[in-house]
Amino acid sequence: MNAHVLANVATTIAMKQTPAGLDGLIAGETAISTLDHGLHYRGYALEDLVRNATYTEVAYLLLRGELPTTEALADFRAILAEAAEVPAAVVQLLQELPLHIAPIDALRTAISALAHFDEQANETDDTANLGKAIRLLGQVPVLIAARHRLTRGEELAGSDPELSFAGNFLSMLTGQIPTARDERALEQSLICYADLEFNASTFTARIVASTGSDLHSAITAGVGALKGPLHGGANEDVLDLLLSVESASQAEKFVRDAIAKKRRLAGFGHRIYRDRTDPRAVVLKDICSDLATTDEQRRLEEIADAIEAAMWSHKQLRPNVDWPTARLYRMLGLDAELFTPLFAAARVAGWSAHVLEQQRDNRLITPRAKYVGPPPRALLPLRER
Ligand code: CMC
Repeated sequence: MNAHVLANVATTIAMKQTPAGLDGLIAGETAISTLDHGLHYRGYALEDLVRNATYTEVAYLLLRGELPTTEALADFRAILAEAAEVPAAVVQLLQELPLHIAPIDALRTAISALAHFDEQANETDDTANLGKAIRLLGQVPVLIAARHRLTRGEELAGSDPELSFAGNFLSMLTGQIPTARDERALEQSLICYADLEFNASTFTARIVASTGSDLHSAITAGVGALKGPLHGGANEDVLDLLLSVESASQAEKFVRDAIAKKRRLAGFGHRIYRDRTDPRAVVLKDICSDLATTDEQRRLEEIADAIEAAMWSHKQLRPNVDWPTARLYRMLGLDAELFTPLFAAARVAGWSAHVLEQQRDNRLITPRAKYVGPPPRALLPLRER
């Protein structure tokens, strides 16, 4: 057999072994993050980063491979602040998009539009990619906040370079300087959302990058993948679910009924974290407990705990990252429709790092499909069909 035939045989064998949804398949290499032994970004444990780092440091780490020095961080923050200028035409576009569209859809459109104003839009070398990634990182919160305030008829709140990434994001959304406690809680959630190996939206972004296409296209595609309810869209559904359960004592019946109807409950289950809890859910649950100070907030924490316990006893399913973030963002006073855009804003760092990595050592990602359609057949002329 020649090499070509051998390669085809190997492909056929591999195809037979490929599980639905590529479950468990190693689809490539990355030095950015791993879900082995919890969650690590570039070797650092998520828990350490959440405790001791800012989101900006984590974004730098993902993009550049190392944590920044004080000087490098100051430079990075200065570039981010400069990037926060969004072209007036894009703000105008955000104003003109129909009112009924979801903020995550408006964000996807606006990121795509930003490419038209970036002089390096179609350059795919490392330096251009890094520059564009940093600009996007600064611009995405501005886009989200602008659309949010415009649809409510509110004045835009300017970006403040003196604030942290999270503090600035919150102040642009709400028009008020956040408390240190709220700022830090948002920051910690953004760190949790920043990257996750080859998740669906990141893999989407890498596929786009592998064709030689540009960073804005890859990130736009990533947002499209993220919004689905099985992925980032779940954090918005979690709040509806939680609010539909009136008290902790009703949780058991609610879960039993849902499972009997084969309903999927947002915020539970994970493709990879099957035999341990998503580490992001663990750290964020503690943050939620600390944040919950009012009777209403504590009541929601109790309901969440009761649902968790029932999900475990009825289906042995554990919570994922979206379970606590929905409560956390509600405690920060944010509307549910902002939850997935917040996830996207954090994931810009991870998506971009993966685009950079993919294009540094690229091979076009093009798998095969196992064909299950009709066998070869003769084409009848139109009049004989
Ligand atoms: N609620 C109820 N049942 C569930 C859930 C859920 N959330 N997740 C899985 N199951 C059941 C599923 O119905 C199946 O049951 P059975 O064996 O009786 O048919 C069993 O658990 C195994 O399901 P699976 O389809 O093999 O699980 P998966 O690994 O393909 O699914 C998932 C992963 C995230 C798509 C799924 O757990 C899910 O739909 N969760 C709800 C949506 C969600 O919270 N997504 C956010 C994921 S984490 C954040 C992110 O990175 O996006």
